[in-house]
Amino acid sequence: MTSTDVYRITDQLDDETLEVMAARLEARGRHPRFVAMYNQYLDAMEIDSARSVLDVGCGTGVIARAIGRRTGFSGSITGIDRSPSLIGTAVRLAREEGLDRRVAFHAGDSHTLNLDDGAFDAVVAHTLFSHLDDPRAVLAEVVRVLAPGGKVAIFDGDFASMTFAGDDPATARAIDEAIIGAVVTHPRIMREMPQFLREAGLRLVAAFPHVIADVGRMDYWASSIQSMTRLLPKSGAMTEGQAEAWAANMTRRSEEGTFFGACNFYGYIAAKA
Ligand SMILES: C[S@@+](CC[C@H](N)C(=O)[O-])C[C@H]1O[C@@H](n2cnc3c(N)ncnc32)[C@H](O)[C@@H]1O
Repeated sequence: MTSTDVYRITDQLDDETLEVMAARLEARGRHPRFVAMYNQYLDAMEIDSARSVLDVGCGTGVIARAIGRRTGFSGSITGIDRSPSLIGTAVRLAREEGLDRRVAFHAGDSHTLNLDDGAFDAVVAHTLFSHLDDPRAVLAEVVRVLAPGGKVAIFDGDFASMTFAGDDPATARAIDEAIIGAVVTHPRIMREMPQFLREAGLRLVAAFPHVIADVGRMDYWASSIQSMTRLLPKSGAMTEGQAEAWAANMTRRSEEGTFFGACNFYGYIAAKA
């Protein structure tokens, strides 16, 4: 079956799918492993000293709110996302947390940011680049809106490494490939990114590798697998029945203590001269 990365077409999805996606992004954003990964690069790029931050591809605003609630941060944050629905959720969640005076959200396409040259001291792109139509064009836009001396953090999965155990290796591999095609456009983007950064005139200053693996029982992957029962059929990668059977198999494996699910993630920090 041919499939489409659902996270690339969030401006075309129905409300029910976007609710599943929003719940998944929020669940992921609360997971301690995920919190530790984003805090690591935010600390390393000294985000607290930034006066103006852009969170590009902000989704429901997980990273924008995380920056806004840091006690050492006193600047402002702008979040941009292609999905007006996810932006609506981001606005509501920031308001509920009392962060709305510090964080502003707008619907827009990161390929053509409607923002001034050099407007931001820092830009964060958290699991955006793996979904883009044209990653190089977006990197050029990021460089344009970044002030001289500013820093950009690009965090993403190395989704070519995403894998789940199945009943036999050949079937498991076919399912891995179907899932990757359904939730990502550029599964190898973080392998290419050091070259893209150089071509864009940015200097790579730090790289943080991670592996997120649940072995035995699922933990980090639980909310992802739950969301996939909806997202995989929506992408065209599987029928509803196939997606539900796969998720049930993952749940059974977790209950039996035989689950295996893993993916590598990387956080890069780059500076503009
Ligand atoms: C996996 S989500 C990550 C959301 C958020 N950064 C987070 O980590 O919770 C990818 C996001 O990129 C957005 N996106 C995809 N293509 C985009 C584009 N061309 N311009 C702006 N946002 C885009 C999607 O709408 C989605 O919210």
